[in-house]
Amino acid sequence: MTSIEIPFPDDWHVHLRDGEMLEAVVGYTARRFRYAMVMPNLAPPITSVADARAYHQRILAVAPADAPDFRPVMALYCSPAIDLDDLRRGVEEGIIAAVKYYPAGATTNSDAGGTSLADFMNLYETMIDLGIRLLVHAEDTDPTVDIFAREASFLDRQLAPLCASLPELAVTVEHVSTGAGVDFVSAHPQVAASITPHHLARDRSDLLANGMKPDLYCKPVINSSADQAQLIAAATGGDPKFFLGTDSAPHPTAAKYGPVAKAGVFNAAYGLEVVADVFHQEGSLDQLAAFTSTNGAAVYGVEPSEHRLMLTAESTDQDLATHLTTAAGDEVVLFGDDEATRWQVSVS
Ligand code: DOR
Ligand code: ZN
Repeated sequence: MTSIEIPFPDDWHVHLRDGEMLEAVVGYTARRFRYAMVMPNLAPPITSVADARAYHQRILAVAPADAPDFRPVMALYCSPAIDLDDLRRGVEEGIIAAVKYYPAGATTNSDAGGTSLADFMNLYETMIDLGIRLLVHAEDTDPTVDIFAREASFLDRQLAPLCASLPELAVTVEHVSTGAGVDFVSAHPQVAASITPHHLARDRSDLLANGMKPDLYCKPVINSSADQAQLIAAATGGDPKFFLGTDSAPHPTAAKYGPVAKAGVFNAAYGLEVVADVFHQEGSLDQLAAFTSTNGAAVYGVEPSEHRLMLTAESTDQDLATHLTTAAGDEVVLFGDDEATRWQVSVS
């Protein structure tokens, strides 16, 4: 029987939301991951250390007591509202680990985002000084750019010039979704990238070919099978620049199933099984720990966890949950229940 033990994984990109949704989803992340880089795209967005601290406390207040070593860290939302002295204090205090740039209009709660990466040079200078990374949602929102070309266009038009003018700024391309994105990361020493379970395990035909699947709709959209193949090669190839960030992003089915679907895949429940399944199919389980547990830790300057997690390729006939229900009565679909039937996870 195939079995692999890995240091407890980290999730370097996750949406935990707030209120009843936070309460419903936090346990899935806390039981499977150690560090969680918590995204700031609440409404209104988290742009001050006081708001980040309060949010951090709300997260810990509802996190389960039996999570082995859950450590949420916060990213501030890149905005003119960020005060540089406040940021400095937040980093020194250990509560702020990064700043996240959203192009305005690209995705959920991005209305307060930027129109150009180049508008925040003073902020980036301070970030270089503080040694924290700029996390980038790389999508060109120019409506003339094709939806499947938005990542490549953003990297070319916006991130490439920024990297050239600030080579000391450390950048994470979040949820890299294309071969062009992988190539960009490889070509720029200052850039690393997170990859999601759903971009690794699905392509746009899964999204669109046999009936349109709102549960697979996310931003950046899942792209071609050739892009997927390059993401798999990057994730399984042992390159220390690529690591797991789930981009787990719960939306109630009421917001997914309708004339306009919200973007986001909730994968915190079974994302690890999905990733293990991809690595298993590639014959690369020996690289799993690098992707889930050590590459990202090195990029963010922390030691890998001393806790261990065991994944065993063993099918279950048990019916796995396909959705959760929040205290407000909202349903959220759990991504990856198919892969999850093929894996047993245990924590030591
Ligand atoms: O699909 C996505 N959902 N992509 C994002 O960038 C944001 C996220 C969300 O917050 O729902
Ligand atoms: Zn995200």
